[in-house]
Amino acid sequence: MSSGDAASVPSLTPTPEDRFSFGLWTVGWRAADPFGDPTRPVLDPVEAVHRLAALGAWGVTFHDDDLIPFGTDEAGREKVIARFKAALEETGLVVPMATTNLFGHPVFKGGALTNNDRDIRRYALRKVMRNMDLAAELGASTYVLWGGREGSETDAGIDVRAALDRYAEGIDTLAQYSVDQGYGLKLALEPKPNEPRGDILLPTIGHALAFISRLDHHEMVGVNPEVGHEQMAGLNYVHGIGQALWSGKLFHLDLNGQRGPRYDQDLIFGHGDVLSAFFTVDLLEHGGYDGPRHFDYKPLRTEDADGVWASAEANMRSYLALRERARAFRADPEVQEALRAARVDELARPTLEPGETPAALRADRSAFEEFDVEAAAARGGAFVRLSQLALEHLTGFRAAGGTGL
Ligand code: GCO
Ligand code: MN
Ligand code: MN
Repeated sequence: MSSGDAASVPSLTPTPEDRFSFGLWTVGWRAADPFGDPTRPVLDPVEAVHRLAALGAWGVTFHDDDLIPFGTDEAGREKVIARFKAALEETGLVVPMATTNLFGHPVFKGGALTNNDRDIRRYALRKVMRNMDLAAELGASTYVLWGGREGSETDAGIDVRAALDRYAEGIDTLAQYSVDQGYGLKLALEPKPNEPRGDILLPTIGHALAFISRLDHHEMVGVNPEVGHEQMAGLNYVHGIGQALWSGKLFHLDLNGQRGPRYDQDLIFGHGDVLSAFFTVDLLEHGGYDGPRHFDYKPLRTEDADGVWASAEANMRSYLALRERARAFRADPEVQEALRAARVDELARPTLEPGETPAALRADRSAFEEFDVEAAAARGGAFVRLSQLALEHLTGFRAAGGTGL
């Protein structure tokens, strides 16, 4: 790419084929924080649908209470749903995922599916089921469960083993409900280490995967990992979703930005750790993920309505820019050569020969007795060059053909 050559600059204009989706709670966030009042007025979900569609988004997602305010009577609920459906029809926007607000109302202050109060647990299950009915009616295929209030501030008040028993019971009950109703909804658990609780159960992707493996309906349950949540725990998001993909459990994801371990920032995708965002897109595009590219971010509290829509667009433009840069990185012959020099391809080759037994390995003198351990230890990894090539692609200093600007 050369500067000034407009024809060779790829478009950063999103289209529905890019499969970008947004939660109603993202663009609709009124920007109240623990220290200050909302800075923006209520956003009508119907307007959100029209604005997102106009920007080139493909899908919209919601918590029950984002669409239908808590406490709305049945007649009011039907009206809201009818207006929302009409907006979806007019714009062609789809609903790939829905979720439940199990954290906002004070009844959930001590948790929902794992609340010590059994009647609150039963109420929480019914609240989820009610919105699963709507999700299925709107054609969703994934149902997300973020257990924001499932946790504690003091270890004295929670029996973690009993809480996990109740969590598993709750998730299995909801999975069974999807089966019994013929909804075909798969469930995706969203890990987060803390906030709003001091400690949240299933704090990371790894905890969630281990939990899922113990469920009766483990085959129907996967994860919905969020960039910022793993980074709040000091973890590598690319490795986390890599393991989720490897486990066949990356059902959905929440893209956004975060600057290290601090409160949950929910920045625009790419506006946190940009190098990690580059490798995230590289993995999603080349690693076999074909689900929605879903953004869970908060427009900065400083912004007015124009800033809200600029930020929604910014998420998609960031993704498209990084996708173009990741493609150029992969297509660069020098990168291919550097990958081979770092023996990245060799890792795909099994360590044992086909049919080789542990005893045969033990008898292979070349693997141990005759192995030149010092020479192997002296070989360089050749990772620096690769890493720098990635950075030069990311910053636009190299084109797909490998030439500099
Ligand atoms: C958060 C979470 C939520 C969930 C949402 C969907 O930290 O607030 O990321 O935004 O993604 O509740 O379940
Ligand atoms: Mn978040
Ligand atoms: Mn999220």
